Amino acid sequence: MIGIDIVETKRIKKLIQNKKFLLRVFAEEEILYCENKKNKEQHYSARFAAKEAVWKALCGKYKIKLKDIVVKNLANGKPEIEIKDKKIPKIKLEVSLSHTKNYAVAVCIIQPNNLNI
Ligand SMILES: CC(C)(COP(=O)(O)OP(=O)(O)OC[C@H]1O[C@@H](n2cnc3c(N)ncnc32)[C@H](O)[C@@H]1OP(=O)(O)O)[C@@H](O)C(=O)NCCC(=O)NCCS
Repeated sequence: MIGIDIVETKRIKKLIQNKKFLLRVFAEEEILYCENKKNKEQHYSARFAAKEAVWKALCGKYKIKLKDIVVKNLANGKPEIEIKDKKIPKIKLEVSLSHTKNYAVAVCIIQPNNLNI
């Protein structure tokens, strides 16, 4: 299973000025990560794209809040997904992010044997 999403950074730049949106969509660790970056809207946009890509890869099988789909970076920078909702079975998701001034993209892959569809 695969999911992809592309986001315009200018759209997210505007949205993250709204604290209600920010706190509804992003987890605390994501906010901390992005706020420490120079072009924070790019990092927020990539995380937003990742959340949508995970949704697509799961084919909407699970109703997961965007905030509960969390992007975490390993020490070498590689992003990983943690699903924070305890009702969702453990699924191994692979994610990859890329961003420029104008666009951010994310791809998510789930091995078929990780999903009981
Ligand atoms: C990692 C790297 C390829 C990113 O490429 P880039 O063109 O500078 O930037 P992009 O916008 O395409 O990608 C940025 C995203 O790459 C991801 N990334 C960073 N380090 C990564 C790594 N080691 N492996 C996989 N993904 C990584 C992150 O998600 C990052 O976005 P984030 O900081 O918002 O989470 C680049 O920094 C690099 O060449 N690093 C050194 C070599 C390396 O570690 N390569 C990875 C091989 S698997």
